[in-house]
Amino acid sequence: MKTLKKYKNSLGREWKIPRTIQAAMPIDAIDENGIARRGNTFSMTVAISDVNYLMADDTTKEMYFRKYCDFINTMPPDQVTQVTIVNRVIDMAAMQERLFYQMQHDERDPYREEVNRMLSSKAQKASGFVRERLITLTTEQKSFADAERYFRRQLNDLEVSLRTLGSRVTPLDATARLKIFHDFYRTGEESIEHFDLKETMKNGHSFKDYLCPDKLKFEPNHILIGNKFARTIFLLTWPNFLSDELISNLSDFSRQMFITINVLPVTQADAVHEIEKRLLGIDTNIARWQSKQNANKNWSASIPFSYEQQQQETKELLSDLTEHDQHMMFVCVAITHVADTLEQLDDDTAQIKAIGSKKMCYIATATNNQRMGLTSSLPLGVSPLGIWRTLTTSAVAFLTPFQAQDVEDEHGVYYGVNPISGNLIMLDRFKLQNSNSFILGVPGSGKSFVAKREIAMIALSDDADIIVIDPEGEYTPLIRALEGQVVEISDASKKHINPFDMNPEYDEGNYSLKSNFMMSLFELISRDRRLSPTQKSIIDRCTKNTLVGYMNNGYRGNVPTLYDFYYQLKEQSEQEAQDLALEMEYFTTGSLSTFAHETNVDIKRNIVSFDIQKLGRQLHAIGLLVVLDFIFNRITENRESKRKTYVFIDEIYLLFMYENAAEYLYALWKRVRKYNAALTGITQNVSDLLESNTAKTMLSNSELIVMLNQAPSDRDILADLLQLNAVEKIKITDADVGSGLMKVGGSYIPFKDDFPRDTELYRMMTTKPKEAMY
Ligand SMILES: Nc1ncnc2c1ncn2[C@@H]1O[C@H](COP(=O)(O)OP(=O)(O)OP(=O)(O)O)[C@@H](O)[C@H]1O
Ligand SMILES: [Mg+2]
Repeated sequence: MKTLKKYKNSLGREWKIPRTIQAAMPIDAIDENGIARRGNTFSMTVAISDVNYLMADDTTKEMYFRKYCDFINTMPPDQVTQVTIVNRVIDMAAMQERLFYQMQHDERDPYREEVNRMLSSKAQKASGFVRERLITLTTEQKSFADAERYFRRQLNDLEVSLRTLGSRVTPLDATARLKIFHDFYRTGEESIEHFDLKETMKNGHSFKDYLCPDKLKFEPNHILIGNKFARTIFLLTWPNFLSDELISNLSDFSRQMFITINVLPVTQADAVHEIEKRLLGIDTNIARWQSKQNANKNWSASIPFSYEQQQQETKELLSDLTEHDQHMMFVCVAITHVADTLEQLDDDTAQIKAIGSKKMCYIATATNNQRMGLTSSLPLGVSPLGIWRTLTTSAVAFLTPFQAQDVEDEHGVYYGVNPISGNLIMLDRFKLQNSNSFILGVPGSGKSFVAKREIAMIALSDDADIIVIDPEGEYTPLIRALEGQVVEISDASKKHINPFDMNPEYDEGNYSLKSNFMMSLFELISRDRRLSPTQKSIIDRCTKNTLVGYMNNGYRGNVPTLYDFYYQLKEQSEQEAQDLALEMEYFTTGSLSTFAHETNVDIKRNIVSFDIQKLGRQLHAIGLLVVLDFIFNRITENRESKRKTYVFIDEIYLLFMYENAAEYLYALWKRVRKYNAALTGITQNVSDLLESNTAKTMLSNSELIVMLNQAPSDRDILADLLQLNAVEKIKITDADVGSGLMKVGGSYIPFKDDFPRDTELYRMMTTKPKEAMY
């Protein structure tokens, strides 16, 4: 066929005779931007990020599938496009640089060492391998400049079509591209860390000198690379209805490995022409068979099934191409895997073949063809193996390389390991559209532990303010160990917070947020929870009266207090005002006057927890609200400094049970972004929480939700609200302590964490009395 013939010619003659080691790199030249030339053929490679394919339900999978088909249909005809999955041994040095916590030469360094040890062991235990997905494009052009122009356009198309799948595209420059080959040919050598293409050229070296192994020998059934053994195998036959998990299952095999799907699309015209030719061929065969039967006077014989089937399939193919937006393409799937010994290599080959046969695929060794096989499996943009199979777009789409999405922000906070990909989950909340979050789960599922772990990780990696509202007093050991400040709020303590504290930034010259806050406070104080419109008006008026002098004085002088507010109420003519004053009495002139004084809490440290346990359970909600307002006031004060502030509110549902309090919280929730702050709400009572419409809105707009094990009814509510599919729902059903599902931006990522118990950090975070530090 024309496409294949043309492609074979373009490969040139050199494939016939292996010459030097340099032939292992069939590239003549490479530009700094990563575009490589071989004869007239140019290639470039991009890395693509993974998408959540395995976690998707059938409908979503179908959507992915259609989009992946669209992507395949954008591959230019008569050029090879390669989709490659590279399994590489984790490069610990690179990982350390990207993810590990940097030593600061302070007293927290021992904890950083603990965390880094844990990260390193978790990363290695998972599989010890990283998986990368690459796409290599090729084109025939006259010059690098022409090729660059062509690839720029292609890259744009590629980005557009992969973005609809949720996959990001990153072009590889020369150093990144050559590193892939270096890591393969010279496993374990670090010289590439210093590899600089420009420098190399200046010194008159060929880049190949840096990449090629000392020894490269092609045996009939394996390849000797340095002191390692490799083998190229390929997909020989596979069923018409191929499992979409084949490539995923193959890449799960924990060995250094390249799996490359070489696709050579055929132009529509050529394809139709080819199929018509095939149909004609079948017709001729049938006619020949019939005349033979006639000659034998075998008049009643019916056409053999195999002919009919061939005819049927070819007709269907034609209709797919002409009517169903399918393209025809040649496909060759080549795999090269590496082992330390020949025995190991044989064993691995057998195992990979077994993975194939489970999916009804026959994988064969490229006997006497190892050199071409190897080249076809590397992301070089060349496919000389020559074992092509004709497929349509949708059949190619079943060879999807996607598995599961990961979150790996540089020096992000550790949240656990993704059990599907085995990779660490490292997240920087400030990279999300809004940085507020919720942590939800049944009692004992590990909610507070998630918050404490986050606090510890932030304290070790970032110079940010961390503030905790702690109704159980359980964050104290951690906060103390991090040399933070614990402020105990109770009616007996001499520590006071004044709810009327207000700096000019608090509401930017308005008093409505404070009025909103006072209504919330009354709601929590009064037994019949709902405030009447009259009551609201009175509270609003008195808030204004209390504050007006202070505000007009430029927020200077004596700060008004709850006493002033109380006397304002008493001065009002309405009976409702007197009733409100009476309710307020207990908190002013009565026995719980802790919130009626000027603030004397001095926040000296950047890690602070407010322990409100001793306020007594019935006053927790009030304590929470007052402290929260105090914190917000402080955050707004820091606006200029651009410092990040993380606020953790345990038992947040206490506020959502009250309409005004929920609205006040929502107002803060929306505002904190402006002030570089991130709020985290923690609660076990999902159904209580979601009785509030405000809470629902907040939850469905949260970019980060950590869901641990859920009670059955809560699980259904959450699944409904967040549109979880069945696979995702399973992750929060009978989940182990510390495991569950995270919503990160628009994706759902499963996580598990089993924090090592033999660490100081664990002892600071656990609530189990025997293991705890204090
Ligand atoms: N990721 C983890 N790794 C190891 N142990 C954990 C992990 N998460 C939780 N634990 C253990 O489980 C205990 C209970 O967890 P935690 O206090 O966080 O639960 P909770 O959901 O906050 O419960 P409650 O609703 O009662 O507040 C912890 O004290 C700790 O010992
Ligand atoms: Mg807890």
